[in-house]
Amino acid sequence: MLSFLLLLFLLPSSSNALDFCVGELTLPETPAGYPCKPPAKLTVDDFIFTGFKKAGNTSNIISAAVSPAFTAQFPGVNGLGISAARLDLAPNGVIPLHTHPAASELLIVTQGAILAGFISSANDVYYKTLKKGDLMVFPQGLLHFQINARGINSVAIVSFSSPSPGLQITTLALFAGSLPSPIIEKVTFLDDAQVKKLKAVLGGTG
Ligand SMILES: *[C@@H]1O[C@H](CO)[C@@H](O)[C@H](O)[C@H]1NC(C)=O
Repeated sequence: MLSFLLLLFLLPSSSNALDFCVGELTLPETPAGYPCKPPAKLTVDDFIFTGFKKAGNTSNIISAAVSPAFTAQFPGVNGLGISAARLDLAPNGVIPLHTHPAASELLIVTQGAILAGFISSANDVYYKTLKKGDLMVFPQGLLHFQINARGINSVAIVSFSSPSPGLQITTLALFAGSLPSPIIEKVTFLDDAQVKKLKAVLGGTG
């Protein structure tokens, strides 16, 4: 009992430091996230992100844009185990097959329609055309994709179960990097012409 009272006495009177840890991005990131910005320096704006109002730039090879609100863009999520992003898919837009190694994902369609799906470790496929207002979850680490399904600009807000979900796009991992073509052919069973064609389009070398 005495030690319990002593513990209460020793707790800081302001519990801010225990409630949250807005990331101080000028200090180095650690495996547990960024060090905390001093509570005295915080304002409400440290807990607000306004970057989802504008569509991302979809003038690119996938006709799509991902605007992240991860720790780097939104230091308020540091240490909270969550983050978000806005997806914009122009009429031909696609977020190619990819994984987030560190997070499950929840997607909410806010405009248009999106064909979304994932593939389980057992290679079972789960996909459907989602309409405005529909939600879908993508379990952590599994390959998944989103495709514009309505020929109009489509938008989704996604949230992640980590402030740093990570992103690996399978096609870019294979064909935008420097893994030598003979190795890619061995590990994918694709032929040389197909590998060279994709490397030319996506900027791969080797
Ligand atoms: C969108 O990106 C393209 C390609 O990088 C660029 O040429 C264009 O200026 C960008 N548009 C806007 C509105 O930023």
